[in-house]
Amino acid sequence: MVDAVWWKHGIVYQIYPRSFQDGSGDGIGDLSGIRQRLDHPEWLGVDAIWISPIYPSPMADFGYDVADYCEIDPVFGSLDEFDLLVAEAHARGLKVILDFVPNHSSDQHPWFRESRASRANPKRNWYIWRDPAPDGGPPNNWLANFGGSAWTLDEHTGQYYHHAFLPEQPDLNWRNPEVRRAMHDALRFWLDRGVDGFRVDVIWHLIKDAQFRDNPPNPAWQPHNAGIDRLLQVHSADQPEIHAVVAEMRAVLDAYPDRVLIGEIYLPLERLVAYYGAEMEGAHLPFNFQLIFADWTAPAIAKLIAEYEAALPAEGWPNWVLGNHDQKRIATRIGAAQARIAAMLLLTLRGTPTLYYGDEIGMENVAIPADRVQDPWERREPGRGLGRDPARTPMPWDGSRHGGFTTGEPWLPLSPDFAQRNVARLAEDPQSILTLYRDLIALRRAQVALRAGVHVPISAEGDVLVYERHDAASGSRLRIALNFGEETRRLDIGPAQLLLSTALDRAGHVDEVVLRPAEGVILAPIAARRAT
Ligand code: NOJ
Repeated sequence: MVDAVWWKHGIVYQIYPRSFQDGSGDGIGDLSGIRQRLDHPEWLGVDAIWISPIYPSPMADFGYDVADYCEIDPVFGSLDEFDLLVAEAHARGLKVILDFVPNHSSDQHPWFRESRASRANPKRNWYIWRDPAPDGGPPNNWLANFGGSAWTLDEHTGQYYHHAFLPEQPDLNWRNPEVRRAMHDALRFWLDRGVDGFRVDVIWHLIKDAQFRDNPPNPAWQPHNAGIDRLLQVHSADQPEIHAVVAEMRAVLDAYPDRVLIGEIYLPLERLVAYYGAEMEGAHLPFNFQLIFADWTAPAIAKLIAEYEAALPAEGWPNWVLGNHDQKRIATRIGAAQARIAAMLLLTLRGTPTLYYGDEIGMENVAIPADRVQDPWERREPGRGLGRDPARTPMPWDGSRHGGFTTGEPWLPLSPDFAQRNVARLAEDPQSILTLYRDLIALRRAQVALRAGVHVPISAEGDVLVYERHDAASGSRLRIALNFGEETRRLDIGPAQLLLSTALDRAGHVDEVVLRPAEGVILAPIAARRAT
């Protein structure tokens, strides 16, 4: 039963903690700030907040370089502050999901400091050390995700260590049972504090080829692409042994009631769905990022929905994502008008939706002046549009100084339009995208067909995508029609109850449906009087 499982019927809201709300006045968002703003996710109607990493970190990759898996960075607060946040979120009926970053630690983590101290150190094998190639160079051709080789020479011990990301993020050796045990203990530390689940960072990376074979070249690579894409990541990630590792992690969660394991996975569909586990003992939700990379046309979206539905294992619960802290903002990718269509799509598809903070107010990428760039990827491969700062800017809450985000100097600039585009203003506007998100979420909560019904494709002709959601038990059936184009389109449907339009200017009984440009509608067809 979908409704019995919160992470199936619920909606996840991602908070990038540095940019949500600053409670301390240092210009960087923190846990007390999040607590102060819990009214917002509650008012919006989401079920869970996922908080990007808040652990102690030198911030080489803004928290994705963890120096202690069982503490809170002072920039974000303290364990006491964390406990308060969890308690208050729970009191409001909100679940709390943490980001877990097991593939790599910070090079400042005591484990790595020990590991690099000598070849004989008991923690040496907690990381991935290899001898140099015969010419003294790196052991193989693997590349790092943020540019350059994935190997850095440690002069002192004469070996290279592997890092799939920055040299400051050495990869842990997940083939070592001691590492697995330590990481499971870290998971339990947070589960015991009441955390409702984890989003696991780059989960498909944890196991690498046992023989460290070279990756093959990528024939599609172009010089303007990211350096990492020169090679196909055949041997450096997504190895067969990974599934047992994920299953062990899942077993740790399964010892606690109602916890969720979400995996961050960028892989083609057939390999993505393998992360549910052959016996559903893997991730509950392997993140489905297809909408992020889709051509924004009705036929392309219809095709990817159909392929995803077909690829899902029978017991696998779907999920959908429009954006996150690593991708361009949805409103920037497809434009403000289509961002409303995207909202309706996200909240009417079958499966758990994840919403990125700020997308509900239509936030766009913010241009970052060169002297304010923070993201290490932009610094290492400048000018290629790889930097992620533009999608990580502070949430504008109101029209006051710095949008009410901080009393200090914000770590990244706010969007220049924050005086118009902010939560307080859009919440009062009956036709804003924020009102649309709230109405869509309320409708999803009210309509079992949207939460739990099967997906029934109807058509994808020209610019209009039409599908239905059917709930057999209640007999409830809803039709969704989305206009991806700029022309008016008449729908082949008889009288209906129009439950919601993306324009938020009409509802109620209609004898026929004419979709305006970039309009989406949710309809309850009146079956007995249908024209067709
Ligand atoms: C994926 C995270 O989402 C991204 O922000 C981070 O830089 C890398 N993993 C490395 O942890």
